[in-house]
Amino acid sequence: MKFSDCHNVADFRRLAKRRLPYPVFHYIDGAADDEGTKARNTAAFDDVDLVPNVLAGSEEIDMGITLMGRRIAMPLFLSPTALQRLFHWEGERAVARAAEKFGTWFGISSLATVSIEEIGALVSTPKMFQLYVHKDEGLNRSMIERCKAAKFDALALTVDTIVAGNRERCLRTGFTSPPKLTPRSAISFAAHPAWTMNYVFREKFHLPNLDTHVDAGSNVAVSVADYFNTMLDRTMDWRAAEKIRDEWGGTFCLKGIMSVADAKRAVAMGADAIMVSNHGGRQLDGSRSPFDQIAEITDAVGGKIEIICDGGVRRGTHVLKAIAAGANACSGGRLYLYALAAAGQPGVERILGKLRDEIERDMRLMGVSGIDELGRNQLRRR
Ligand code: FNR
Ligand code: LAC
Repeated sequence: MKFSDCHNVADFRRLAKRRLPYPVFHYIDGAADDEGTKARNTAAFDDVDLVPNVLAGSEEIDMGITLMGRRIAMPLFLSPTALQRLFHWEGERAVARAAEKFGTWFGISSLATVSIEEIGALVSTPKMFQLYVHKDEGLNRSMIERCKAAKFDALALTVDTIVAGNRERCLRTGFTSPPKLTPRSAISFAAHPAWTMNYVFREKFHLPNLDTHVDAGSNVAVSVADYFNTMLDRTMDWRAAEKIRDEWGGTFCLKGIMSVADAKRAVAMGADAIMVSNHGGRQLDGSRSPFDQIAEITDAVGGKIEIICDGGVRRGTHVLKAIAAGANACSGGRLYLYALAAAGQPGVERILGKLRDEIERDMRLMGVSGIDELGRNQLRRR
């Protein structure tokens, strides 16, 4: 498998598996319990078929949309994900530059490995900061203030991690941040010398948006599950979300909404957008897929709040199906993380180019030249 043989997300997944020490690969690829929800997130798109209209040829295809107040060039963006310098030494920098080239939103995690300030100065593409609400209120305030100063365009509050998901692959591999040498993982690090040399000899790995307040994850190795369960505020509720929204004062998104009732509360609290998401199946296994929830959420709150279908997207047709069902846009994590791990910034650019080409080709085949022409009349459940 070579870079030039990678034509889709699955190809990059195979290449990433070869390039990464196994605890790191399984951290990206893994999910909770039996990983049924992770599989369903993508399989859900297969339960619905596209019905094209023909003889609607057009020279110009415009897949641009306005999302959270910013014009973007494609209806797909890059969800915030943690620890990216473990996947490729350039980490979030590579993802930020690729997102900028494709003119789309991207997000960094609270557990990012590049600072809010650096990302703010690096790219002008719309940027979202994903907030994990910590028990340490000073840390929450510090992240919000830093995002304001660095002119981030939106804050996404993640609401589906009130407790850590049961990720059994990570239990088996002993994955921690920073990675720990164990007799078994040492063999995997030795078998991936390029990754290991970059990890050891490039700048020191740390979590610059957290390590002003906590050592865990930067200087003290912890599993992601232990981090969630010891550091995050497990009493977080709607009042806490409103407080965060007020402190931030800017464009605000709730990441991890799944029910109609919660979507209505998001509208009531004045959120600008919701990411309909189950965290890529990494939290509640058995949870419904985001795509399966789009229609009922759109029927309840469409037009009152922007609806983003987050998770499971692997193809351009998945994006078209989600938008036809009522979503304003799609987003994804693994779709670009495998490519980042496989080949850094050129990898992320290649997969974004492939997905953009798929969306354009599929729009032509569907007989639409603009995103808002897609509707439920072009979808049938099997
Ligand atoms: C994530 N995700 C995530 N979400 C979040 O709010 N904060 C985070 O730090 C992370 N970190 C993270 C790491 C990795 C390795 C993955 C795969 C995912 C979830 C992410 O934002 C998104 O919701 C899912 O990735 C969507 O599912 P797909 O696109 O991976 O199928
Ligand atoms: C994850 C966290 C960090 O899914 O959000 O691993």
